[in-house]
Amino acid sequence: MSTGYVAVQWSRHKRVYDASIAIGIALYLGAFVGVSKVLWQGAHGISDEVILIRALGSCAIVLLHVILCIGPLARLEPRFLPILYNRRHLGVITFLVALAHAMLAIGYYHGFGVLSPVRSLLTSNPNIDSFRAFPFELLGLGALAIMFLMAATSHDFWLRNLSASTWKRLHMLVYVAYGLLVGHVALGALQTDRGWIGPALMFVGLCTVSGLHIAAGLQEYRKDRGNPTTTPDAEEVTWVDVGAPNEIPIDRARTVCAPGGERIAVFSTGGTISAVTNICAHQGGPIGEGKVIDGCITCPWHGWQYRPQDGCSPPPFKEKIATYQVRIVSGRVQVSAKALPPGTPTTPVRIPGDMP
Ligand code: HEM
Ligand code: FES
Repeated sequence: MSTGYVAVQWSRHKRVYDASIAIGIALYLGAFVGVSKVLWQGAHGISDEVILIRALGSCAIVLLHVILCIGPLARLEPRFLPILYNRRHLGVITFLVALAHAMLAIGYYHGFGVLSPVRSLLTSNPNIDSFRAFPFELLGLGALAIMFLMAATSHDFWLRNLSASTWKRLHMLVYVAYGLLVGHVALGALQTDRGWIGPALMFVGLCTVSGLHIAAGLQEYRKDRGNPTTTPDAEEVTWVDVGAPNEIPIDRARTVCAPGGERIAVFSTGGTISAVTNICAHQGGPIGEGKVIDGCITCPWHGWQYRPQDGCSPPPFKEKIATYQVRIVSGRVQVSAKALPPGTPTTPVRIPGDMP
């Protein structure tokens, strides 16, 4: 969905987002070239082409770090959610910057011999058993191939055709690409006169990415474990405790975990409580981290919307997600652990004392 929704609500946000990335990249490249020209002079002088190769390569790796950090950061601190919205744009732009780096490197280092540049890249360094002389460029090539696959399939057309799970598995390859790039930078540094700054920054980046993923994973684990008191009733329905009504932030959700492990997003809006699955029908985004906009639950990742009362997207869109029954017992909100089929209407529960 959301062609119309995007056009109405997010177009300005997207334009600002893309323009900020373009300005950021231009400033970075300008600063890198300027500083390199000052630092590497005289006997240590480096050609403009090599400076540009390094500027583009390091820019791509910085962007990749941002991409990898956004997910866990947004999970740990909702204030980062706005940068998550158009992460796909950032991914495609990162690929283009990396492609420019690779093409310039191949042209500069492999373009002047008798072999074609690509054949030269693949065959000129056979030292795969050597640590110090390893063909580090091939690791970059592998990473670039993965980034190409991801950029080429980033459109929703591919998401629909590949199915959400295959698409997600494919896009998890970003971590393989990242691993290859750690090797590309570390082993490459052994063979050029770049010194230790690049590999040292890469190490800091690696620690940041891993640290944030571990922290976000631990937070999710604690939430899932610390969560629910469950109560089976006479009809064998298991009810999961969510908390007091006022503990659910207005127009936002509290996410609980059912005994089977499924996450349920319980929203409080307009003086009522309702519950839907935490998994967005688009790309599995965490709906419980979104908010209610114009009466609709809005996924934090790309803005798909669902009505709280039946989990259906507003017309003309046709997406549906699972809903759950809710009740308030002894001042505590409880949600049924059993998902209703996607799009099943439920009656949102009015919060006592909260009159319309
Ligand atoms: C066919 C693919 C690639 C080739 C042939 C290639 C080639 C190179 C070469 C020759 C260098 C050393 C440049 C020098 O210092 O003289 C280098 C460095 C680097 N490359 Fe690549 N690369 C490729 C892909 C990538 C990709 C996909 C990324 C990141 C997304 C990347 C990031 C970097 C970085 C961060 C450096 C270090 C730059 C610095 O020290 O300032 N490369 N690459
Ligand atoms: S809108 Fe894309 S995952 Fe929800």
